[in-house]
Amino acid sequence: MVITNDIKYVGVNDHDIDLFEGHYIVPEGMAYNSYVICDEKTCVMDSVDANFTDEWIENVKEVLGGKDPDYLVVQHMEPDHSGSLKAFMDEFKTATIVSSQKAFTMMGNFLEGEEFADRREVVKEGDTLELGSHTLSFIAAPMVHWPEVIMTYDAKDKVLFSADAFGRFGALDEIGETVKEDDDWACEARRYYFGIVGKYGMQAQAVLKKTANLDIEQICSLHGPIINEDLGYYLGIYDTWSKYDSESQGVVIAYTSVYGHTKKAVEMLAEKLKELGVPRVEATDLARDDMAEAVEDAFRHDTVVFATTTFNNDVFPFMREFIHSLVERNFQKKRVAFIENGSWAPVAGKVMKGMLEGCKELTYAENEVKIVSALNDESRAQIDALAKELAATYK
Ligand code: FEO
Repeated sequence: MVITNDIKYVGVNDHDIDLFEGHYIVPEGMAYNSYVICDEKTCVMDSVDANFTDEWIENVKEVLGGKDPDYLVVQHMEPDHSGSLKAFMDEFKTATIVSSQKAFTMMGNFLEGEEFADRREVVKEGDTLELGSHTLSFIAAPMVHWPEVIMTYDAKDKVLFSADAFGRFGALDEIGETVKEDDDWACEARRYYFGIVGKYGMQAQAVLKKTANLDIEQICSLHGPIINEDLGYYLGIYDTWSKYDSESQGVVIAYTSVYGHTKKAVEMLAEKLKELGVPRVEATDLARDDMAEAVEDAFRHDTVVFATTTFNNDVFPFMREFIHSLVERNFQKKRVAFIENGSWAPVAGKVMKGMLEGCKELTYAENEVKIVSALNDESRAQIDALAKELAATYK
């Protein structure tokens, strides 16, 4: 793939991976992106996962056509990008690694002390690397998504190499090489963002501010398609996500149900919300649906209903995991409501509220639903009242 006259794609597609980062299902596979900048000096941007070393080195050689690479810029040390750097340095004996000090320390930790002391150039915020007609500028991007991360801007071709930011799950031979061919970028980019970077909204905001004045025509992330059109949309949506603002008006009902009674309440509430004209209503079964999808849905919408049973004087385990996943990612700026079920000593509502206690700017719905084992007239009336209260704000 050609990014510009001088910049070529040399990344790889992974269709064998079961869980990305040991955690996330990737039904469309995964791409580990890497790029070569051809100039008087040649520069490779990041390596790839260790399972694809040979393919990647072949890609690099093909683009360089017999020339040796001068530099390998290591923007991020997570092994999906650094897994092949040692093999690269062994193959290309005259190459220099350009990276942050923190990244070299991590390199030593990953590579039994190998920090390439004689073959390295340490860069920090504002430093530049001259390749000839291209000058690369480095932007510190700590915690997007690890502390050592740098982004790189090429002013000549107006390309931002954004490390993990603006990444999306999916192999490029399945979803398309550029966003033009990928008609649903946001869905899997949002699941990626909130799963992987979501905790670091403040740091993502800081780096967005630093890049705001750059003239950018293309964003080349380490994952997912190249963003080469409508950049305002992509920068805008990242701004929304990293500010924890709600992207969509609507209600997510996240639930667990053991014998189907809580599920019945959820279905009844969802039906009523739809009848009352709520713009988007999503229900997600936390025991069966993808947890990362449930997490991104919660951050996406302005209202989240938590519905679960009491279990061992606590909440059902999947609900505990869900709320923990939200809280550790700085869940905030939402309206929340609760449906609890309990057959003899219900505490689910109290436990859920306790878990959310430290979250900023949560508004609690006045109406709550309490189910004692199964729905009855009283709990049905509570569902009705909650639906009316939640729907009222969308009128
Ligand atoms: Fe794609 Fe944080 O590694």
